[in-house]
Amino acid sequence: MNAPVDVRRASKIRDLARVTRPLGSPLCAPAAADLEHIPGKKGLPWVGVLPEAAADPLLFAQRMHQRFGPVHRFYALGEWNVQLVGPEASELLLFDSQRNFSATHGWSRVLGPLFPGGLLLRDFEDHRVHRRAVGSAFKPDLVAAGLQIFENQTRAMIDRVSGTRLFFYRELREVALEAAALGFLGLSPGADSQEFSLAFTALVSATVAILPGWLPGSSLHRGRTGRRLLEKFINARIAERRIGGGDDLFSQLCIARYDDGTPLTNQEIVDHLIFVLAAAHDTLTSCLASTIYFLAAEPDWQAQVRSECRAAGLYKNDVHANVQLLSELPVTDAVIREALRLNTPAPIIWRRAIRRFEFNGITIPAGTPTATNVLLTHRLPEHWRNPEQFDPHRFLLPAPDRHRFAWTPFGGGVHMCLGLHHAMLHAKSFLAQLLERNEVVLDPGYSPRWYWWPNCRPLDGLPVTLVRLSER
Ligand code: HEM
Repeated sequence: MNAPVDVRRASKIRDLARVTRPLGSPLCAPAAADLEHIPGKKGLPWVGVLPEAAADPLLFAQRMHQRFGPVHRFYALGEWNVQLVGPEASELLLFDSQRNFSATHGWSRVLGPLFPGGLLLRDFEDHRVHRRAVGSAFKPDLVAAGLQIFENQTRAMIDRVSGTRLFFYRELREVALEAAALGFLGLSPGADSQEFSLAFTALVSATVAILPGWLPGSSLHRGRTGRRLLEKFINARIAERRIGGGDDLFSQLCIARYDDGTPLTNQEIVDHLIFVLAAAHDTLTSCLASTIYFLAAEPDWQAQVRSECRAAGLYKNDVHANVQLLSELPVTDAVIREALRLNTPAPIIWRRAIRRFEFNGITIPAGTPTATNVLLTHRLPEHWRNPEQFDPHRFLLPAPDRHRFAWTPFGGGVHMCLGLHHAMLHAKSFLAQLLERNEVVLDPGYSPRWYWWPNCRPLDGLPVTLVRLSER
């Protein structure tokens, strides 16, 4: 009998091909002629539709959908891509019961240069084995300890900015970064966490770089430098963390085991830690910025969230009690879900077809980079009544007819967000503390300018005023 493939080690594309070969997976792009039957747009030479898509990703997606329907193609950066729209499309790509799609080869163009070895850069059995090991690090104690740190950071920030006008998104990013340094890496405030912050900021700001990484000064070049610094920073601390003890993600990854009992290698710890940090950081900041904006725009909902959080009796007992209480706030939960519907932090989810497949009667060849547009799916009038309206009732009332992939801010299927629970807890905790003592107020006539790629964010930093409730 042949020895089984050691899928745990199969992180390089060469090895991955061994894992996926039984599925018959040509990984190169299809010939343009094989895509001609799919309606779509080419745009300019090489850059294709990129200028138009980058100017306003939502408007671009709406135009393409209107003109070409739920299966269309567009050309960008020298390659044809297929975009699918609608819950059925998300189910097909994310649930992927036929194992037709590779996340590795879908995301590698965007995340590959900076996040090799992360969970989204892994497929099938290799992914399953790594996800179990990384998931085992997300123990209840880690969640509680992370929440405690986040609450401390949040409290300090709110004390500092209460009663002022501020650019909320910018403040949030800083708090989230500091909370990640302390909570995920177990660093203490000061020089260590500053060194980490600088390297990490350079890394995440390069996620959508277009210029080549060898070009000094390009954001990819800066991102690679950031990644190298982070790797060095983490590697220097692995040996002491392997001895064990900490409640932070880093320490837990250092003692995590695969199913066969072996520990993660140093490189695997580095890859997973950096990827989780990046996956957590901008998404949570985006979610909070959107929720705060909608609550400021809808003072009635803001008042309802405030009174629900007050009535829950949060922060009277230890953090474990808070974890429980925060899990049970239906109005706050519905408000966050509705904000995630309209301003979904991860608007497009990429895969690459490893086999030919069919959707809506159109055949798409193997090798095609294929995306599901979650941002647009969350706004389809056939699935959401008055889709542009912020209405948390949608998530407070039962909706038995809703397609299970109509709302997928956290994805779905085997790659579904590992930090979903973490994100919801942190978002609720932040809102409870902020609204306890403050009314969030927008400038008169304010209209936000959201941008959608790679994460949803307010281009103007979201100016708001926090009016102390005692002063009302
Ligand atoms: C509101 C906040 C968040 C949103 C909207 C979000 C969204 C997503 C989405 C859409 C995916 C799946 C992508 C795909 O299938 O291609 C994903 C995966 C992932 N997320 Fe999140 N995320 C959030 C917060 C977090 C946090 C706080 C963490 C960590 C604590 C985290 C860790 C991960 C990881 C590790 C994966 C990869 C899972 C896998 O491939 O198995 N996320 N996230």
